Amino acid sequence: MKAAVYKQYGSPEVVQLMEIEKPIPKDNEVLVKVYASTVNRTDAGFRSAEYFISRFWSGLFKPKFPVLGCEFAGVVEGIGEAVSAFKIGDKVFGFNDKTFGGHGEYLTLAAKEAIAIMPMHLDFGEAAAIAEGAHYALCDIRGAKVLPGQNILVYGATGAIGSAAVQLLKHFGAQVTAVCNTKNVALVKSLGADTVIDYQTADFTKTEQTFDFIFDAVGKSSFGICKPLLKEKGIYISTELGKNGENLLYALYTPLLGGKRVLFPLPSINKEDVEFLKNLVETRVFKPVIDRHYKLEQIVEAYKYVESGKKTGNVVIDMVE
Ligand SMILES: NC(=O)c1ccc[n+]([C@@H]2O[C@H](COP(=O)([O-])OP(=O)(O)OC[C@H]3O[C@@H](n4cnc5c(N)ncnc54)[C@H](OP(=O)(O)O)[C@@H]3O)[C@@H](O)[C@H]2O)c1
Repeated sequence: MKAAVYKQYGSPEVVQLMEIEKPIPKDNEVLVKVYASTVNRTDAGFRSAEYFISRFWSGLFKPKFPVLGCEFAGVVEGIGEAVSAFKIGDKVFGFNDKTFGGHGEYLTLAAKEAIAIMPMHLDFGEAAAIAEGAHYALCDIRGAKVLPGQNILVYGATGAIGSAAVQLLKHFGAQVTAVCNTKNVALVKSLGADTVIDYQTADFTKTEQTFDFIFDAVGKSSFGICKPLLKEKGIYISTELGKNGENLLYALYTPLLGGKRVLFPLPSINKEDVEFLKNLVETRVFKPVIDRHYKLEQIVEAYKYVESGKKTGNVVIDMVE
């Protein structure tokens, strides 16, 4: 089968298209013919190994799982003997940041993992983009224990995580102020934001409002900058560690002090989470934002665009014409 393979960590160019063996499902696994995947920050992070710590999962010296693509949507083409939850022909989507595989024509995954039947009304490209940004957003929203009526600021509301966060926060009943670029103001309003601050014409730190929770979904602010905007016991969460890893340090001691605090929830995803997101998609509460489509042959270009930090929502890889 055709796949985008990386055999060493590094820049997007380490990824090459080649023929590799088609996987065979074990007893507890499904074989999925991949129709669409995405290139996202998780794939890029593991490929570049920019944070050395990622190598403890993906291989210390070279990648253990040479086909990236943590998101996928496709059709079940085979099932192991012990699988009863899926049948051949089912349209499925899911997330797998342990063994990956979405950048290959076929992947296998245990049926108990984060894989579910696709929402009825989405195409493969949209379904492939459901889980990555949304599950990070969900983990952070759960970590902050968001309550209906709380006032929340989403800084960087146009990434995969930010665009999902705005929609999920509205679902949980929050009042959302979102910060984004001029060109995306209309988009972010359409996602449900109550107030939009255009960072090209206004400084969000000058707002008169105070917030129960500030969610920096692009990791470009800091606790120091946001602290004056937080209510007395307000929470700050960033998707990045901070310039010198300070967000981890703050997360260790600020919760002990009883005032404004930084949290750093560890991301996780399971079958219930993808089922939950599927349900939100089916009830039209959540829709992944799609920026561009690329073919598998253009995957290096796709990585470069994703790593430019300019994508709006998600970048889809169409695996089938
Ligand atoms: N290491 C990992 O495994 C991993 C995994 C997932 C996510 N993350 C991190 O999580 C963050 C978000 O990722 P993502 O995929 O959701 O989004 P992303 O690719 O970082 O999206 C960037 C978006 O944020 C906007 N943006 C850039 N600078 C901004 C600023 N100063 N203020 C407001 N908006 C700004 C961009 O639009 P404009 O430029 O037009 O404003 C773009 O739409 C990234 O920092 C990423 O590294 C890391």
